[in-house]
Amino acid sequence: MKLNVLFTPESADEQYFAKKTTVVIDVLRASNTIITALANGAKEVIPVGSVDAAVKITKNLFGGSTLLGGERNTKKIEGFNLGNSPLEYSGEKVKLKTIILFTTNGSKAVLRGKFSGILYICGFINIAAVVQQLAHSAEDIEIMCSGNSGSFSMEDVVCAGMIVNELTRIRKDILLSDSAKAAVLLYKPVDHDILKLLKETEHGRILMKNGFEEDILYCSKLNTTEVVPYLSGNVIKLLSGK
Ligand code: MLT
Repeated sequence: MKLNVLFTPESADEQYFAKKTTVVIDVLRASNTIITALANGAKEVIPVGSVDAAVKITKNLFGGSTLLGGERNTKKIEGFNLGNSPLEYSGEKVKLKTIILFTTNGSKAVLRGKFSGILYICGFINIAAVVQQLAHSAEDIEIMCSGNSGSFSMEDVVCAGMIVNELTRIRKDILLSDSAKAAVLLYKPVDHDILKLLKETEHGRILMKNGFEEDILYCSKLNTTEVVPYLSGNVIKLLSGK
């Protein structure tokens, strides 16, 4: 089984993911917002590629069951119900709601992988549960880092490296691409000091400057949940029993 890491979504077109097992990573912060919303009882998350698309979908969905969530330059979008801080997606706010989510990188990365055989959402907070799921994969695996507007993002690649490192402990029949090996080489020195890493990344520094330090702490935690979100058609929901 082949295992590859894509440093940015732009390095492959939509057809490339057909039939493959894909993992989308956006450590800061979209992965954690999606995981947290569903772990706290949201019915589903609909990722969109633009603010207009988000507003259009809301108009078509009936009374009160939807919330608009997302960010522009890390801040809540005017007229939206929620921003992109996972800390905002409490059970009280999101229970049984459909979340329509627009973010700069993460929601678009999910749309890029929409033709995958199966697509999972991963962050450090659910990484062990995702690795367990991947251990049963029969298909080649693509780990797609959401990046920063087409550029390399350290936090996503380190998270990818941790997945590769853990998965190769479990499965001995995996053929790693060079980018997968490179991700492990970046992950190893970080080991478990993830908070320090996140604070030093480009996007981490921007989030701290914008007052989202609590989000960085939240997104740095390992395995605080066992939920595994996956894309089913155009909605993200939880794997049953997960
Ligand atoms: C993104 O999708 O680009 C990020 O999640 C943005 C952010 O929340 O800062």
